[in-house]
Amino acid sequence: MPLLKIVHYPEPVLLTVGRPVSDEMFANGLAKTVDDMFETMYAAGGVGLAAPQVGLSQRFFVMDVPDEDGKPNKLAFFNPEILRVEGEQTGDEGCLSFPGLYQTVRRDMRVIVKAQDVQGTDIELDLDGLAARCVLHETDHCDGIVFLDRMTVLKREMAKRKIKRLQKTGKWE
Ligand code: NI
Repeated sequence: MPLLKIVHYPEPVLLTVGRPVSDEMFANGLAKTVDDMFETMYAAGGVGLAAPQVGLSQRFFVMDVPDEDGKPNKLAFFNPEILRVEGEQTGDEGCLSFPGLYQTVRRDMRVIVKAQDVQGTDIELDLDGLAARCVLHETDHCDGIVFLDRMTVLKREMAKRKIKRLQKTGKWE
């Protein structure tokens, strides 16, 4: 199965609010799209991948933040909505649409997120740590927000300079 093409910043689709996933789309079936997205995400070595990153301006994403014992934890979220947040965490973050860029980003430590699963059934999850960070990062993608927007001004300027350097050396297209 061919992998999907991951688009890189500053592709306009990454900066556009995604359309809600409609009842018709659920009825037509989204399992294959989800499979393709997982495969693309694993091949690229990521823990999350949102529809806009593969050129689809829609509100959904897949993620797999393994358990402490390394057991996979495959989840797909459609029309995600952050209901509650608590605490905070600071750590390095990367994004498959920003190849080679890692930067410190402050995020909420815990999230309660409401969404629909691949069948369109309502789900609600309570996640913390890296899983919470991932949900926040990917839900941002659904809103046309990239992690650059979540950095401090100083870190964002550093990141933009690094992106320019990577673009010049052809490591970013
Ligand atoms: Ni990302």
